[in-house]
Amino acid sequence: MTGDNLGFFSSTSALWALVMTSLVFSIAAVLASVRRNRRRVVEKLPPAEPERRLLREFEKNGNSASAALVKWTPATVRRILAEELPDAQVIVVSNREPYIHDLKGDKVELVVPASGLVSALEPITRACAGTWIAYGGGTADRLMVDQNDRVMVPPDDPSYTLRRVWLTEEEHQGYYLGFANEGLWPLCHIAFTRPVFRESDWQTYEAVNRKFADTVVSEARNERPIVLVQDYHFALLPRMIRERLPQAIVITFWHIPWPNSEVFSICPWREKILDGLLGSSIIGFHTQFHCNNFIESVDRFLESRIEREDAAISYGGQTSLVHAYPISIEWPPALLGSLPPTDQCRAVVFARYGIAEGVKLCVGVERLDYTKGILDRFHALDHLFATHPEWIGRVTFLQVAAPSRGTLTSYRQLHEECQRLAEDLNQRYGRDGYKPVVMVAEHHTQRQVYEIYRAADLCMVTSLHDGMNLVAKEFVASRDDEQGVLVLSAFAGAARELLEALIVNPYDAAMMAEAMLQGLMMAPEEQCSRMRRMREIVADNNVYRWAGSMLMDAARLRKRDELDLERGAPPPPSNVVPLAERRYMAVR
Ligand code: F6P
Repeated sequence: MTGDNLGFFSSTSALWALVMTSLVFSIAAVLASVRRNRRRVVEKLPPAEPERRLLREFEKNGNSASAALVKWTPATVRRILAEELPDAQVIVVSNREPYIHDLKGDKVELVVPASGLVSALEPITRACAGTWIAYGGGTADRLMVDQNDRVMVPPDDPSYTLRRVWLTEEEHQGYYLGFANEGLWPLCHIAFTRPVFRESDWQTYEAVNRKFADTVVSEARNERPIVLVQDYHFALLPRMIRERLPQAIVITFWHIPWPNSEVFSICPWREKILDGLLGSSIIGFHTQFHCNNFIESVDRFLESRIEREDAAISYGGQTSLVHAYPISIEWPPALLGSLPPTDQCRAVVFARYGIAEGVKLCVGVERLDYTKGILDRFHALDHLFATHPEWIGRVTFLQVAAPSRGTLTSYRQLHEECQRLAEDLNQRYGRDGYKPVVMVAEHHTQRQVYEIYRAADLCMVTSLHDGMNLVAKEFVASRDDEQGVLVLSAFAGAARELLEALIVNPYDAAMMAEAMLQGLMMAPEEQCSRMRRMREIVADNNVYRWAGSMLMDAARLRKRDELDLERGAPPPPSNVVPLAERRYMAVR
């Protein structure tokens, strides 16, 4: 798309027209790509060339049909940044940091937290050598930073800057435990846990969002960074960034579901949350369903113009796009190369957890969270034993669960209930040397988690509700032997992609027991064909596609802004003060 053919757009209709033009290009490029593919055989191009051509096509036109054929790698993301967003500084903002430094006795231990967000964003931030701003919650975090609260990570291959933000106990309590995790978390998940909204938590949430906005401004090297805001901890941050860096591209990704407007309406600060998010250039969700729920919420509670065809919301003189970008994992997972074959992993895992040889191994791996359906899979095991007693003694369920948000009552209760039910099952069905449930409520390293995946006959991901769930994708990625069965909740975003899993309703213990039975008895050939297909899907829809698609959309918006500026359109409305002054304001 050239500047010439955009010259006639008015600033208000520019986005509309951009989308229409992209659509025309999309159709043209699908046809072109079919023609190209035919020609490729004749021209005998070296293998990399067709991909490069498709990528160029995609980069030129923002074309999703061509994008589908691009092989997504860290190099693809770097190329998009270099060619489409030259000089752009990428700043990631999340609550959870990718590397935590903790004190263990007099030593400093490095912990990679159990977080889907971290496992998805880490390879991307590495690929673009960006800056990651996050809460420094580790007991040794302050010891490891320089005078600007920065540390280069990963420690063994420093590739990007981690900028830590310090929070007081009260701030952490009100913003993270309170408003984010007792309010927004249960509000957005259909798990029948009542959200708690406190005025004081809200005020702290607002203040902490402002603290992060200050940090973004102080880290920005110019007026136009690309800021990737992560998750429900920062609903107000996009607007705060927009006010201070009006030319920034702010892409906000909401990693959890978005409820329907009726459920959302119970939040006392619903308008403020929507207003905050609409400071973003793009708001991303895992599924179209959650995009639709968000748009419905805006429609119901804010004076705005919604172009459903284009998934665009105009509000307060600014337009935000609302798109689905299904998150994923790096492919192939870096860890995989250093792991032993699956039979050795099996031996290690069986020995580590005292599992009797010869039994089938079912596993569950996650944070100890009431949305994950851990109790429900224990009920399913109970049902399996009750209806098929021949399996008693022949199957063990290994549940590893990283303790999470443990000071909240709902999480403490869940922990106790899981322990109680596991013990009850062990008492009723266990015998000498045989425990049907091994429950380990401890943090595990990524390496240990991958060993467990590779040791398993069956992996159960039975979330009551989940944005995506990356455990499902990690399990599939770990199985280069093409064996193992995935039992997957219909209410996890991953179920839209991994159709060869055994899809279950986690509320239906009988159905889950059936699926377990089917999985335990599945022939190796069937396991192989299902696993192979799922691996193809995850390899194609990897995390580089997730990030690359957002960056391509960011590049398109940037070009549109540049064209508007060239045409002399007024700059975005804001209370603009020079960057130097804003920096000063930020550090005061
Ligand atoms: O994916 C949802 C999410 O809340 C992330 O935002 C977060 O990093 C992860 O789960 C783990 O939760 P927490 O950071 O609260 O331990």
